[in-house]
Amino acid sequence: MNNLSQTAPAENAGRSKLAALNEWVAQVAALTQPDAIHWCDGSDAENATLVAQMEADGTLIRLNEQTHPRSWLHRSHPDDVARVEHLTFVCTTAQDDAGPNNHWMSPADGHAKMDELFAGCMKGRTMYVVPYCMGPIDSPLSRCGVEITDSPYVVANMRIMTRMGAPALARIEREGTFVRGLHSIGELDPNRRFIMHFPEELTIKSYGSGYGGNALLGKKCHALRIASHQAKSEGWLAEHMLILGLENPQGETHYVAAAFPSACGKTNLAMLIPPEGYRKDGWKVWTIGDDICWMRPGADGRLYAINPEAGFFGVAPGTSINSNPNALKTVSHDTIFTNVAMTADNQPWWEGLGEGKPVIDWRGNDYDSSNGPAAHPNSRFTVSASQCPSYSPRAEDAQGVPISAIVFGGRRASLVPLVFEARDWTHGVLVGAAMGSETTAAATGAVGVMRRDPMAMKPFCGYNFGDYFGHWLSFDREGVKLPKIFHVNWFRKGDDGKFLWPGFGDNLRVLEWMIKRVKGEAGAQETPIGNLPTTDDINVEGLSLSEEAKAKLFGFDRTGWRAEFDSIGEFLREYGPRMPQALHDEQQRIAQSLAE
Ligand code: GDP
Ligand code: PGA
Ligand code: MN
Ligand code: MN
Repeated sequence: MNNLSQTAPAENAGRSKLAALNEWVAQVAALTQPDAIHWCDGSDAENATLVAQMEADGTLIRLNEQTHPRSWLHRSHPDDVARVEHLTFVCTTAQDDAGPNNHWMSPADGHAKMDELFAGCMKGRTMYVVPYCMGPIDSPLSRCGVEITDSPYVVANMRIMTRMGAPALARIEREGTFVRGLHSIGELDPNRRFIMHFPEELTIKSYGSGYGGNALLGKKCHALRIASHQAKSEGWLAEHMLILGLENPQGETHYVAAAFPSACGKTNLAMLIPPEGYRKDGWKVWTIGDDICWMRPGADGRLYAINPEAGFFGVAPGTSINSNPNALKTVSHDTIFTNVAMTADNQPWWEGLGEGKPVIDWRGNDYDSSNGPAAHPNSRFTVSASQCPSYSPRAEDAQGVPISAIVFGGRRASLVPLVFEARDWTHGVLVGAAMGSETTAAATGAVGVMRRDPMAMKPFCGYNFGDYFGHWLSFDREGVKLPKIFHVNWFRKGDDGKFLWPGFGDNLRVLEWMIKRVKGEAGAQETPIGNLPTTDDINVEGLSLSEEAKAKLFGFDRTGWRAEFDSIGEFLREYGPRMPQALHDEQQRIAQSLAE
C-alpha cells in the first residue's frame, strides 16, 4: 500500500511509553476498526510519503512547481467548507456550565451519539496517531494533545499548524497528560456531522468534516474551547487573538493582542506593513500569531502571551500584494491551499489577488462567472509561520511576550467609530463582552448579519460566558499590571456603502495612537463610550478622508449608542445570575450618562 511504518491494530499496543496513551489508542482502534495504525513522527520522510499518497489518489493537486514550489491544492467536499456552529457542542455535566453561548448535551449522551458514528468508521482506512504540542515545545505555557484521525490531509495540516511528532510525544510521555482528540471524516455527510467537546475530560470527538476548524483539532477545539475551560481553572486566558510586536523608530517594541471575529482582519493586522512614510521613519510590525493567544501574568505582573500555533490557516480571498504582501510572500512555497481556484498554468487564484485569471473554479469545474466566485469565499492557505518575512524573533520565546494593549474589534457598517479606548479594566471587559460583528463566510449560515460575538469568542468559549467575563474581571487585582484595552472598527461604511477607512497598512496609524496612549503621550476626547482620538490626536496626514469619513470615523453618535446600550443590557441579562454584577453596573452607568 505504501511504505509508512504502520502496523496491524493488534500489534500496536505498546508503541508509547505512556500506558494511558497506548490504552486509548487501542480503545479507539477497537471502536473504529482501521486496517492499519500509523504513529506520526513528524519527519520529512513521513510527510513526503503522505503527500505522494495524496497526490496519487487526487486528495492533493500539485500546483505550478516554478511559481509555487512544493505547494498543493485540496478541494474539500462542496458541503464541507466552513465551521459548523450549529453542530458544535460543549458537553459539561451541568448544562449551565456550558452556558447559553453553547449548544449542550450531557457527556453520556454526547459520547453515545459520537461512539455510534465512530463504530467501524475506519474500516479500509489507516488510523493516524498525531502527537502535537500547542506552543513552543520548551514553554511552560504550552499544552499537548494527541489527535487520532483517518485523514492524511489532516495529518499534513497538523504538521504545519502545530509542533507535531516525536518531540511532542516525548513531552506527553514526560507530563503524562494530554488532550484526546478523535477525528474521522466519516462519510462527509452534513447530516452525520458533529464537533463535540468534553472539557471536563480534556476530550474532543469530531466526525463528518475535513474542514480546518472542525478537523484540525489542535486549533479551535483544543487551543480555544478546551483550553479556555482549562485556563479558567488554572488562572490564565486562551483567546481568539492575534499577537504582534510594534517597533517604533526608537527601537522599542510593544506587543499588542487583538480579538476580531473570523474573517475580520486578524491575519492582515498581524502581518501589517507600515505605510511608506512610517517605514522610512523605522516603524515595523513583527508577527507572533494570527489567530490564537494564550496569556498569563508573569513574575513582574504583566500579561505574557504565546501563540500556541506554528502555522497560519488564513483566508485567501482579498490577499494581494497591496493588502497583505507578507502573507503573499509567506504562501509562495510549501503551502497547502484549500478550495481556491486555479489558473491555466496551475497557479492558485482567488478573488482580490489582482493578477492572473481563473480557469478552474474551487469545485474543479471550468470557471464560469455565473456560478459565483472562482475561489470559495472561505478558501484558505495552510503555511508554516516560519516562512513569514515579518515572523518575530520572539515568536518562539518560551516565556512569551509582555502585552501592552488588548484590542477588540468587529465588522460594523454603522455606529461604531474607528477606535476608542476603555477607561479601565472593567470598562474594557464590558467593551469586549458587548462586541458585535456582521457574520462572515468562516462559518456556515447567513453572511452580513450583526450578532453579539463577545471577545470574538462566541463560537469558541468552552464554558458559560457569564463565568468567562468573571474570569476576565478577576485579573484586576493587586500585583497584576494590566494592559490598556481598546476597540477598533476597520469596516465602517459611508452612505455609498463603501468602507470609509483605508485599512490594512494604514491601521498602523491606529496602533501608533494606542501605544502613545499607553505611554501617556497622546490626547483623546472623553465620551460615555470611552476615549476617542480627534484627527489632531491620530496621524491622518496624507489620507484623503472626506468630511463624512472624518465625522463617522472619529465621531460619537449619542442617539445610536443609546439604542446599542439597551441591546447590550438585554444581552447581559440573558445570562442570568452567572453574569457578573460589575458588568451590569458598568452598562447602567454608561447608559445613564448616554441619557444625560
Ligand atoms: P481573519 O480571519 O480575522 O484572520 O481575517 P483576515 O485578515 O484574513 O481578513 C479577512 C478579510 O477581511 C479579508 O478579505 C481581508 O482582505 C479583509 N480585511 C482585513 N483587514 C482589513 C481592513 O483593514 N480593511 C478592510 N476593508 N478589509 C480588511
Ligand atoms: P480566522 O480562523 O479567525 O482566521 O478566520 C479560522 C476560523 O476562525 O474559522
Ligand atoms: Mn479564527
Ligand atoms: Mn486569519
